Amino acid sequence: LYSAGVIEFVVRYRAGARTSRIRIDAGGLGRLGAFARRLSGAGRVVLVSDRRVAALHGAPALRSLERSGFSAGLVALPSGERTKRAAALARLWDRFAAARLDRRDLVVALGGGVIGDLAGFAAATYLRGVDWLVVPTTLLAQVDSGVGGKTGIDLAAGKNLVGAFHQPRGVLVDPGLLRTLPPRQRRAGLAEVVKTGMAADAALFAWIERRADALAAGEVGTLAGAVARTLRAKARVVARDEREAEGGGRSALNYGHTLGHALEAAHGYRGLLHGEAVAIGMRVAGALSQRVAGLAPESRAAQDAVLDRLGLPERMPPTPLARLLAAMRHDKKRAAAGVRWVLTPRVGHASVPRLISGRLVRAALLEAGALA
Ligand SMILES: NC(=O)c1ccc[n+]([C@@H]2O[C@H](COP(=O)([O-])OP(=O)(O)OC[C@H]3O[C@@H](n4cnc5c(N)ncnc54)[C@H](O)[C@@H]3O)[C@@H](O)[C@H]2O)c1
Ligand SMILES: [Zn+2]
Repeated sequence: LYSAGVIEFVVRYRAGARTSRIRIDAGGLGRLGAFARRLSGAGRVVLVSDRRVAALHGAPALRSLERSGFSAGLVALPSGERTKRAAALARLWDRFAAARLDRRDLVVALGGGVIGDLAGFAAATYLRGVDWLVVPTTLLAQVDSGVGGKTGIDLAAGKNLVGAFHQPRGVLVDPGLLRTLPPRQRRAGLAEVVKTGMAADAALFAWIERRADALAAGEVGTLAGAVARTLRAKARVVARDEREAEGGGRSALNYGHTLGHALEAAHGYRGLLHGEAVAIGMRVAGALSQRVAGLAPESRAAQDAVLDRLGLPERMPPTPLARLLAAMRHDKKRAAAGVRWVLTPRVGHASVPRLISGRLVRAALLEAGALA
């Protein structure tokens, strides 16, 4: 009965004494102020959003904060990945200073992963760290970017090259906010839900299989259930491996991402959404898992069938094979004979990355549609 009530749980991170309170609450944006008040004694809040999200959901967020006694101001940045850059970060620092935020005050991020990463990093660095809350508004951000504490910005040289781990005090997930999300963004977010099932939670995968049509249609109660289950699974993995140790359990969540990241990079981060690239990456990782890790053919077929039902792409757009292989090596910071892939021998049990020979990778990529 995830859709009916409010769910709350606390993630405790072993390293440091940090905890994050996760609240999943349909309609909860109107209770943002009360949630923030339970977690913070701040007087001032800077609410950071993008223009599109601010226009849709900024006013109720501000009202709620003010009702709970915060003096709150809104900063609305341009929408899109280009905002996750040093220039916008500097703008935020200046706005924090102008608002006279002090060490006890609070930053609240209201938006997708771009705003979460940027505002979180601004909070991590301003005065060497002020508390922050995040209200993720895309499905991707609700299932992926709220938990784990990764914050940061892009450089011209590549994505996410500068950042810090800074756990938010709280994550307020309001699945009702997904009503205004474009369907393509919703589908891309669902790819991460499937990934979490395939990588770390067989029960979640079975749950998705039973509800793929409602998920594809954007039924909010079902999306809420998917978010709750995905967050719990991710929190379980991340709490054990907060800093993503080499070979640590968290790397399982990179299932589908070796190719996904390379594909995004090879296309200059245009055209394909992250989740779409990951869906293609999972199909190829599934094929490799079947070949070398013992994944049962029917499990691979089940994965691909769910991705189909969710409307996620099957073949990659034409991509020069050489560019793709180069991007893959760069992503993993290794110029070795092969590329490291997270594979899964069974649904829900992705392993630490293993080296796959160039020959095998090449064959799988050609099968998936990369051009020689
Ligand atoms: N920190 C992490 O662990 C983590 C995990 C995954 C992704 N990320 C990062 O997240 C970013 C991608 O996030 P994203 O996909 O959320 O992109 P995004 O933040 O750019 O949002 C996508 C688009 O949807 C719009 N939007 C957001 N919420 C909406 C809503 N409720 N209604 C209508 N429109 C809405 C935004 O204005 C934007 O145009 C990338 O930079 C990625 O690196 C971080
Ligand atoms: Zn991802």
